[in-house]
Amino acid sequence: MTSDDGLKPETVALQAGRSANGQSLAPVLWATSTFETNTVAEGRKLATSVGATTFYSRYGNPTVNAFEEAMAELEGAEGARAFASGMGAVAAVVLGLCSKGDHIVSQKQIYSGTQMLLQSVCPRFGIDVTFVDCADPQAWRDAVIPGRTMVLLAETPANPRLDLVDLAEFGAIGGPMKVVDSTFATPMSQRPIDYGVDLVVHSATKAIGGHNDVTLGVVSGSRELMDWIWGFAVLQGANASPFDALGGLRGLKTLGVRLAQQSATAEVLARVLEADDRVDVVRHPSLESHPQFSLAQRQMRFSGGLLTFDLAGGIEAGTKFVESTRICRLAPSLGGPETLVTHPASTTHVGLLPDEMREAGIGPGTIRVSVGLEATDDVVADVLAALDRIGEST
Ligand SMILES: Cc1ncc(COP(=O)(O)O)c(C=O)c1O
Repeated sequence: MTSDDGLKPETVALQAGRSANGQSLAPVLWATSTFETNTVAEGRKLATSVGATTFYSRYGNPTVNAFEEAMAELEGAEGARAFASGMGAVAAVVLGLCSKGDHIVSQKQIYSGTQMLLQSVCPRFGIDVTFVDCADPQAWRDAVIPGRTMVLLAETPANPRLDLVDLAEFGAIGGPMKVVDSTFATPMSQRPIDYGVDLVVHSATKAIGGHNDVTLGVVSGSRELMDWIWGFAVLQGANASPFDALGGLRGLKTLGVRLAQQSATAEVLARVLEADDRVDVVRHPSLESHPQFSLAQRQMRFSGGLLTFDLAGGIEAGTKFVESTRICRLAPSLGGPETLVTHPASTTHVGLLPDEMREAGIGPGTIRVSVGLEATDDVVADVLAALDRIGEST
């Protein structure tokens, strides 16, 4: 995967998004909500131009714009718009593109916030949603209602079991706009636009920000679609803060090395767990046992820092495990420097009905690990010690 200039994404991340820097090597923080104009005519021009970056920061801001430029370049897109969170970005795509009477096809294995938006908010606005199995390209095609389906919404790798969508198959579906939430992969690993996808969404709160200190989202795509989304976003008001965009720009510079290290540790941990009798199923795209292993090899440059496994002891074992780790911390996010563990059945997915939880691939003993940047041996030892502690209490 290379840019139009033949550069690898790790290099692009260090070259892109520098337009607001002036002579500063590091990104400049434009910590302002508004901008002065010299004349009324100048103000009118800015107020009426799409994507103005020096009028009012809800419309655009130079630091935020630098992050948007960097993301567009990394995704091979014509433009990007940053949001106050990943959900701000998802909501702008869904509610900015769809109207009453429209239909969306989404996969059922999807981030729970996105699922709730589709299930609870969309029907209130007269937007119907059909959920399909993400791994079945024909299911996506069959669910399209010609003339009504406006958006196909995919997430790959998907929360929380790392199911994959075949980007080549997905991108080739004609008709509706194809949107991919590529948060788990990041632009270092895959570029959905290269496969014919129209819009790429990220929660940059995760690996892109990379330090658990920003809340940020971003959408990238064609100029035409991004201008449309900008029009909605200005009224939605979920614009990214310049402080968070600065964090996003900083995070991009080290994203490649962080993802490489996290992928390597996650693979070691996944293999150790796969060989451990106390653990049922382990899911990581690097494992030959992953049902879509060959697809992962084809479309992802990094297998990623996320892995999931199932404990036979159900809810009790799951909660005990996440409360027993010492280096891995119990917190609901991913992609940061600290290894985080979650027990979806009792936390992130607790709002789902039992059937919905099963459909999403979450069992009572499912554990999700977001591998961080600690020494690999320390992470593995901590996880094994926590497994020992479950055994001690039963
Ligand atoms: C795949 C995915 N998309 C979107 C989101 C929402 O992002 P945010 O928490 O930044 O709103 C998340 C959050 O966990 C996520 O995992």
